Amino acid sequence: MIEQPRLIQLPKFLDKRGNLSFIEECKHVPFKIERSYWIYDVPGGQVRGGHAYRRNKEFIVALSGSFDVVLDTGAEKKLFSLNRSYFGLYVPEGVWRQMQNFSTNSLALVVASTLFDPEDYIYSYEQFKAELR
Ligand code: TYD
Repeated sequence: MIEQPRLIQLPKFLDKRGNLSFIEECKHVPFKIERSYWIYDVPGGQVRGGHAYRRNKEFIVALSGSFDVVLDTGAEKKLFSLNRSYFGLYVPEGVWRQMQNFSTNSLALVVASTLFDPEDYIYSYEQFKAELR
């Protein structure tokens, strides 16, 4: 069975001093975390991603502001709007991904299942479709 991308609701402690959410590996994030990175200061209209990973799985949280993640499994293309810091989007390996429509001052946290490896990237959509088969 090929895993599907999905939104995962995170714990949320509402507090008049300010709210708190968290993620734990292999629990809310369905893999062991090897790396974290974040995307910020995205100028209006810019698009990030436009590639797939062969092995790397990711979990994306809009810590601040909002943006859209367009995921294409080859069988289905879906747009996920992230705008709450207590939801994460799980993106399994082998999914074509693009991030767009970033709001001003948005902050995307991405936790990943592998260390950075340029060899893990598929940059051509044709190649992506070929490797799916
Ligand atoms: P890239 O993954 O291509 O960004 P995006 O998919 O959002 O367009 O990464 C941009 C640059 O940053 C690229 O030169 C590789 C580098 N990079 C790292 O060195 N380590 C990392 O963990 C990531 C995600 C990127």
